[in-house]
Amino acid sequence: MSERGARPVQIAPSILAADFSRLGEQVAESLAAGVRRIHVDVMDGHFVPNITMGPLAVEALRPLAQRFGAVLEVHLMIEEPDRYLAGFSQAGATAMTVHVEACPHLNRTVHNIRSLQAQPGVALNPATPLIALDEILPDIDVALLMSVNPGFGGQKFIPSTIDKVKRLRRILADRRLERIEIELDGGVGEENIAELARAGMTIAVAGTSIFNGRRSIAENIRVLQGACAAALV
Ligand code: DX5
Ligand code: ZN
Repeated sequence: MSERGARPVQIAPSILAADFSRLGEQVAESLAAGVRRIHVDVMDGHFVPNITMGPLAVEALRPLAQRFGAVLEVHLMIEEPDRYLAGFSQAGATAMTVHVEACPHLNRTVHNIRSLQAQPGVALNPATPLIALDEILPDIDVALLMSVNPGFGGQKFIPSTIDKVKRLRRILADRRLERIEIELDGGVGEENIAELARAGMTIAVAGTSIFNGRRSIAENIRVLQGACAAALV
């Protein structure tokens, strides 16, 4: 049974878990399976203890994303993201999410993203309270709640995030900001996606639950989509 406020969920494959030697092929398979949002994890070795990819990866995926009309979302787990926004935009990013913990001038950063015609998103680490979104909410399109400590794929989901989603869903309802997407990132899979959907999540980032070789990418996506649809009946 769905709770009040539950909505359809989009699956956003996180390419961090993909086979990089076959990246285009695996993203194409995801798009052919119906996803319309590709999640690109950008890490700088400072904000998080890992280094991943930059605008070149986005540029390489741009033609595929455009062919399917998909959003190319960069999750910027980096310090001083303002320095790189224009570069990611030129490379083809159409949604850019920054961390509140990395942005002393968050309002300026969000407006910079908007001025680049990209969807602005703000992410919170697991221990960052929702109150950190209070002032910026009206200016953003996406609120991303981390359900693992950022830095690596394949980590265990932090269960208290479910309550955080419910609280954010209530805040959005009270403030009539229900157009804002609630995106969850980290440890999302078939075992918890239904509960997250009922709690009010609208975008599920999924890395290892899609790119794992246990089933095909398309099958994994179908399983996640099916679990969400069944949860919201
Ligand atoms: C973690 C990244 C996530 C991660 C998700 O720092 O932001 O996007 O790749 O991967 P899974 O789904 O494997 O937890
Ligand atoms: Zn991410």
